[in-house]
Amino acid sequence: MLFDSEIDKAVRSGTPLTETAPWKALEAHYGELGAVHMRELFSADPDRFDRFSLDLDGLLFDYSKNRINETTVALLADLARASGVPEAARSMFAGERINWTEDRAVLHVALRNRAGSPIVVDGEDVMPGVNAVLKKMKGFSEAVRSGEWLGFTGRAITSVVNIGIGGSDLGPAMICEALTPYCDGPQVRFISNVDATDFVEKTRNLDPAETLFVVASKTFTTQETMTNANTARRWLVEALGDDAAVARHFVALSTNHEAVEAFGIDPDCIFEFWDWVGGRYSSWSAIGLTVALAVGFDRFTELLEGAHSVDRHFIEAPLEENIPVLMAMLGIWYRNFFDASTRAVLPYDQYLCLFPAFLQQGDMESNGKSVDREGQRVDYQTGAVVWGEPGTNGQHAFYQLIHQGTEIVPCDFIGVINSHNPIGDHHRKLIANCFAQSEALMVGRTATEVIHELLIRGLDKEEARVLAPYKIFEGNRPTNTFLLDRVTPRSLGMLVALYEHEFFVQGVVWRVNSFDQWGVELGKVLAGKILGETKNLVTNGDAELSHHDGSTRALIERFAARQDND
Ligand code: F6P
Repeated sequence: MLFDSEIDKAVRSGTPLTETAPWKALEAHYGELGAVHMRELFSADPDRFDRFSLDLDGLLFDYSKNRINETTVALLADLARASGVPEAARSMFAGERINWTEDRAVLHVALRNRAGSPIVVDGEDVMPGVNAVLKKMKGFSEAVRSGEWLGFTGRAITSVVNIGIGGSDLGPAMICEALTPYCDGPQVRFISNVDATDFVEKTRNLDPAETLFVVASKTFTTQETMTNANTARRWLVEALGDDAAVARHFVALSTNHEAVEAFGIDPDCIFEFWDWVGGRYSSWSAIGLTVALAVGFDRFTELLEGAHSVDRHFIEAPLEENIPVLMAMLGIWYRNFFDASTRAVLPYDQYLCLFPAFLQQGDMESNGKSVDREGQRVDYQTGAVVWGEPGTNGQHAFYQLIHQGTEIVPCDFIGVINSHNPIGDHHRKLIANCFAQSEALMVGRTATEVIHELLIRGLDKEEARVLAPYKIFEGNRPTNTFLLDRVTPRSLGMLVALYEHEFFVQGVVWRVNSFDQWGVELGKVLAGKILGETKNLVTNGDAELSHHDGSTRALIERFAARQDND
């Protein structure tokens, strides 16, 4: 039976999660450790870094600058165990239907299963299908990159435009940006927003005869993507003067064959995937075609291999030494016991500039939920707000709040040892800042240190006393640091998979379904209605708006009355 852990049983028999023994033990432990400063923990334990860091295939995870001791790790592991994390992980890898509100398996791990082992869903091994699509992606990406695939007028493809949104955009866009040093194929651009400005600016200066549109949409019904795809088709056909051009300039990545064919894309140009691939977990599927076009299929394979090595680690390593489990449980420690409502992801590598935006969807669409497995509203906090910017820019923008604001913001620093652009001492400066920030957040600066410094600077005792409170840093602000040797397809694949499993573990413990996203539906439905009403108002001067609240009605009316470009 799915989800039949000790905690599931307790909850079903009326004990709320927050009243179960593992949760209560953490609560009591928080009472003892919550006020202890990490400075003390470091000075009491010279081996703290060794104790609280792990190396996975050259990727270092340093979690020593957290408000934890060995008891914390043991208690967090107890909670994970009692929540059935290992069993749930095995169910996911075995293709069980763990997405219970959509009655689907969750098998992004099958897409990067390099072990050759079968994964069975509904009595059928999905791996032959996965491998067939990978083979097709290889063939197509190589044909485009070599110039063998020609556009309608006989010219080779020099530009690829990915049209998609959410998981059909954020993953491939982030990966292409992160792997810029490996991009040796056609230039790639990404159109996602239904705002025509996105289309206009991204197609500016493109030659239609040399442009390939990759329409990426699991459902092939998403309003933004279909609007952009239709505009792209018009743009192309107007330029090349023939509907038949679509066949050489459009491919689709989708689970919805019928809709793709109805759009007019050649069935041979459909790269399929399956309903057991969630949008935000889909970069490993056909949705990665744009990545393969940009960096080549071999490097795309390395990305899959990196993720696969994390999958092995996740399923095999004991909970206490399991990086995604530790990431997840530390997140729960701060979210539920320290009341941290946000978390920051801070990459110190310009190529990872889109990583925070990518994680926003991964984390917030997965765990921004408030109803549990029993259909009950939870009475504890779940997913935190994810935000971040690349270092060092963030330091000059929002780090002030992380250092001295009223709320703890747990941070993930992502540092890279070797830059792809080793010019002068740029990289050493960048990394010095990365290490300095996590150190400053941990140690802080005491009143005594501040006053001493002010006196040395020549202030008198009274002046120093008045200024000191503003200059004190409490410190004790938790951070993780990931240190990669270099941003490569493999290390990037590892990093993404670590976070994916982190979301999974948190969802299991919080007892929410990390794989649906019903919360985005209402806005979509209302947008459809308002679209029709606005059109009626503009064209006929009349629309039934009385069912809207006063604010929405007034906004629609003002828009219809004042817009001049319909
Ligand atoms: O925003 C909701 C959502 O369904 C995401 O989960 C998904 O990644 C995105 O829309 C795009 O969906 P599709 O790939 O079906 O166009």
